[in-house]
Amino acid sequence: MRTTLWALPVVLSIGLGTGSLAQQRSVTTVGSVMQLMDAMTIPASNAVFNVGRQPPETDEEWSALALSAVVLAESGNLLLIRDRARDEAAWTEASQAMVEAGAAALGAVEARDVDALLDAGDVVFGSCEACHATYLKRE
Ligand code: HEC
Repeated sequence: MRTTLWALPVVLSIGLGTGSLAQQRSVTTVGSVMQLMDAMTIPASNAVFNVGRQPPETDEEWSALALSAVVLAESGNLLLIRDRARDEAAWTEASQAMVEAGAAALGAVEARDVDALLDAGDVVFGSCEACHATYLKRE
């Protein structure tokens, strides 16, 4: 136990020092960005956006919403891996904003704070728009 705690900062600093350990591991992307949107980002964010219309009431509804917030936040991380990340600028910022907003939504769910959840939903929406404004080409 003592050794493990001791090793932690070393592991973290190696991670920072080499740029990113995660990028050196063999991560294989399977879905397209659109499939990620359809499978994860859109349904998970809809669950958060629906709170204004229909706030969760039962424990089951709160638990389901917590998992949606997790999926939403993690889908932002998936937008950042390997060839999905289009650049280190607006794409990265919008993806990270979505991760943070999803995490804020999760915090609000855990606190069962509907007002905070509505605020987090607005920030989530802003992160969608921030990316789409640059990268979603409409014909
Ligand atoms: C970091 C970039 C990024 C973020 C953040 C992002 N998207 Fe997307 N989204 C895309 C890209 C790129 C496409 C187009 C994919 C394609 O056509 O191959 C897309 C497509 C979509 C589409 C289909 C739009 C159309 O007109 O075809 C929807 C709906 C969508 N996203 C919803 C969302 C929602 C909701 C969020 C936020 C919760 C979100 N997206 C966050 C990049 C992003």
